[in-house]
Amino acid sequence: MCDGRVALEFENGIHYLLGNMYVCVCLAVTDREVEAAIEDGAKTREEVTRVCKAGGDCGACHGQIEDMLEAHGCPGGSQRLVPLRIRAA
Ligand code: FES
Repeated sequence: MCDGRVALEFENGIHYLLGNMYVCVCLAVTDREVEAAIEDGAKTREEVTRVCKAGGDCGACHGQIEDMLEAHGCPGGSQRLVPLRIRAA
């Protein structure tokens, strides 16, 4: 059954399940809010922070925000990740 969430699986074993998961715990920003910021044109982590505040405090979520940017083809992450598979969860 498809519930609207999307799973991203990367070659390095990282898996992300997108769909109302907190990316930034400090500022209570979900993956959907970060996705919306990226879809609205944010191309760097700093731009994502400016739009939805994710990443604006301790910085623990910076890597995940950068990975999400990379998954959208924005070269702003610390490592280059290309999804092996994208599927409905
Ligand atoms: S978890 Fe995002 S700034 Fe702390």
